[in-house]
Amino acid sequence: MLELSLHVLDIVNNSIKAKATEIEIEINEQVLKNTLTISIKDNGCGMDKEFLKTVTDPFKTIRTTRKVGMGLSMFQAAAEATGGKLKISSKKGVGTLVCVTFTYDHIDRQPLGNMAETMQILTSGNDSIDFIYHHIKEDKEFLFDTRQIKEILGDVSLANPEITMWIRGHIEEGLAELDS
Ligand SMILES: Nc1ncnc2c1ncn2[C@@H]1O[C@H](COP(=O)(O)OP(=O)(O)O)[C@@H](O)[C@H]1O
Ligand SMILES: [Mg+2]
Repeated sequence: MLELSLHVLDIVNNSIKAKATEIEIEINEQVLKNTLTISIKDNGCGMDKEFLKTVTDPFKTIRTTRKVGMGLSMFQAAAEATGGKLKISSKKGVGTLVCVTFTYDHIDRQPLGNMAETMQILTSGNDSIDFIYHHIKEDKEFLFDTRQIKEILGDVSLANPEITMWIRGHIEEGLAELDS
């Protein structure tokens, strides 16, 4: 994958498959400290200890038909290429936290990509899941929470085309503010 936002989309899809009802995405860009961290937390089915040990190893998984280079191991490889790492903690029946760190200015650090588009895709296709997206850059922050939006919308679905366009624009504006 060429952009971090596509990894995020992929990792969040694990949370969706795990039947999460609440998914929190946090991106923290600390240019002066030269770190970029991405964390994805869900309240899905979680994993037991034994499985968790094998989960970032594409050669050792339960599925025998598995191809090499699945989501978590690809995200891990992207982080390690910059001198960073992927940490995952999970509890069966409680949820999962994936936390990935990158060296900000490393030549192999993938660009962030389009997070507004990623959030548009996620929210429009999963109306019953609550998404919280928190983006921090230096000392500024942007917070997007579908629970607040649903409260305002009432019966209107997040899949409504006008709403999905609005969500994308709203996030684009919020992220642009972080750079100003
Ligand atoms: N958030 C999560 N909650 C529960 N199980 C997960 C989660 N993320 C990953 N897993 C488990 O780890 C496996 C490996 O995930 P991944 O590396 O993305 O590959 P894939 O999704 O193609 O199986 C998944 O199939 C799933 O069993
Ligand atoms: Mg996956």
